[in-house]
Amino acid sequence: MATNRTFTMIKPDATQENHIGGILSMIEAGGFRIVALKKLNLSAERAGKFYEVHAERPFYGDLVKYMSSGPIVAAILEKDNAVADFRTLIGATNPEQAAEGTIRKKYAKSIEANAVHGSDSDDNAKIEGDFFFAADEQF
Ligand code: PPS
Repeated sequence: MATNRTFTMIKPDATQENHIGGILSMIEAGGFRIVALKKLNLSAERAGKFYEVHAERPFYGDLVKYMSSGPIVAAILEKDNAVADFRTLIGATNPEQAAEGTIRKKYAKSIEANAVHGSDSDDNAKIEGDFFFAADEQF
């Protein structure tokens, strides 16, 4: 059964262009409750660890460099069917393929600078949320 939490990051392009409020508004309007929230700089080492699963992919180095290039906002979100519904709300990885009304359609600039991350499974949502937030920061 699907759990009711997912994990997101607002990526450096979106934080630098002042879209944090706009994106959080779309998330709340989409029916998600914010369980945990913080703005931080991700070191290249931490970004590399977070995206370790993609280490063999050709874009891994660029992705790590990009994700450590400026502040991000990390958040845990709650809603029934959270992982799948959030991926619908954010839209396709490549913004050229993102549907109207999605966060990436509105805010993403490229496949790399694509505004937001969303977990791809319940297991990863838990791992990724715990990567950023201690148990007493999730409520
Ligand atoms: S997904 O969402 O995991 O199904 O997408 P995927 O295509 O597997 O991509 C995984 C993450 O890598 C980012 N990505 C890229 N970064 C830089 N350059 C290129 N070409 C590129 N292609 C994919 C993509 O934004 C995903 O990041 P996250 O943070 O998981 O959304």
